[in-house]
Amino acid sequence: MAQIAPLADPLAGAPRPVDPLPDPARPRARRWPHARLGRVLAPFWHLGDHPPAQSAGAVPINALAPSDIGLLIVHYALLGAEDRKARFRSNLSFSALSHRYHTLDWGSFRFLGARVGQRLVAVAELAPLPDGIGPGRELALSVLGPWQHSGIGERLMQAAMRFVCTEERQPLVLFVRPDNKPMVRLARKLGGACQAENGDYSFVFPAA
Ligand SMILES: CC(C)(COP(=O)(O)OP(=O)(O)OC[C@H]1O[C@@H](n2cnc3c(N)ncnc32)[C@H](O)[C@@H]1OP(=O)(O)O)[C@@H](O)C(=O)NCCC(=O)NCCS
Repeated sequence: MAQIAPLADPLAGAPRPVDPLPDPARPRARRWPHARLGRVLAPFWHLGDHPPAQSAGAVPINALAPSDIGLLIVHYALLGAEDRKARFRSNLSFSALSHRYHTLDWGSFRFLGARVGQRLVAVAELAPLPDGIGPGRELALSVLGPWQHSGIGERLMQAAMRFVCTEERQPLVLFVRPDNKPMVRLARKLGGACQAENGDYSFVFPAA
């Protein structure tokens, strides 16, 4: 019986076809969040290098609106790590700050800010008091490094006291760690009554 020769592979040696639908490029591994933070903040780095171009006494203080969220987040991100810890009790990342202020109940919070051009150099955040403490507002202050020690924190705190104690007729309360000397000294200077509780100080400014 005649033997049948094996068939030659007709595609042997032919160029490999090109896949018309190549796999999509693999996403890049997640980068270290600070690299992203660095890019976001790059236009603002110069703020830390120069002394204030405008006298702190002349910087106007105004109420902030929800449209200022971006400026607010950048303000908190530009605080030094130690100042951010003093302010939030944790060195919040950029994305945590962004989440906090994009999901904030703007109906119950108030913000006062000192603005120089498109920058907030100081912010007073006025939150509702934690549950069970009663009516009133909790104050948290922050001033960008180059603007500290120029009197702006004191002006902002006085503006917050006028707004809450005089206009809203509510007590203003400040919770602060005893080792935060600048804030403790400022609160004492403005006449707050100090109570020590659970390792923290609280300063109360009564309604006018
Ligand atoms: C606390 C803070 C708001 C003060 O703002 P500031 O603009 O530097 O303060 P001012 O220049 O208006 O100073 C007002 C008073 O505060 C006190 N003070 C401010 N800086 C101080 C410092 N380094 N050491 C001691 N007291 C200080 C002083 O009593 C000062 O008055 P005086 O100069 O007559 O003695 C600012 O240091 C800051 O943003 N810190 C980081 C965030 C923070 O800790 N927030 C408080 C958490 S609620």
